[in-house]
Amino acid sequence: MKLLKDMILQKGKVIDDNILKVNSFINHQVDSKLMKEIGLEFANHFKNEEITKVFTIESSGIAPAVMTSYELDVPMIILKKETSSTLNNDIYQAKIKSFTKNKIYNLTLSKDYISSNDRILIIDDFLANGEAAKGAIKIIEDAGATVAGIGIVIEKSFQSGRAYLDNLGYNVYSLARIKSLKENNIEFVD
Ligand code: G4P
Repeated sequence: MKLLKDMILQKGKVIDDNILKVNSFINHQVDSKLMKEIGLEFANHFKNEEITKVFTIESSGIAPAVMTSYELDVPMIILKKETSSTLNNDIYQAKIKSFTKNKIYNLTLSKDYISSNDRILIIDDFLANGEAAKGAIKIIEDAGATVAGIGIVIEKSFQSGRAYLDNLGYNVYSLARIKSLKENNIEFVD
């Protein structure tokens, strides 16, 4: 997606060989016009997949996910990183380990918001090692529902997540695929 790639080149900051900072338009300040275009792009790409719900993981996936769900005219559901006292015991959970943040989360979803008939599109801001996606997939499949697609805003193709999801046959669509961040230089796959 040209608009996104241009913004990454103009405003992204390479922190080291593995981390790209995009706080000025995705992770801290949010560019809502960019999010609208991202929602349109994902909705257009997955329009024939009979998506019934869009899932994301809190917190930075929420903006692109809500715009996608708006365009597809289906609900958006946030997978929580911790169990909250307002959730009763009717929940699905998956443990995920964030390598970037060196933390373990208990990804949580109330059973109220998923059924076995659902065809779910997972949207997230970054794909690194795919831990968050793996957790979301486990929850969806534990509920007997179908992962109909995975939409990623920024994929770091040099990390293991994309290959892992491709090998399992999931339909992954990334709007910007980063080949390398070496030597303070952002290089895209295509
Ligand atoms: P994975 O799910 O693909 O395995 O990724 P990982 O555990 O390594 O990522 C953990 C968190 O760090 C995620 O955010 C992810 O979006 C973010 N992240 C990974 N690589 C980068 C990067 O190069 N740049 C930035 N800016 N973020 C990255 P999170 O903990 O879910 O945080 P948030 O959604 O609340 O912002």
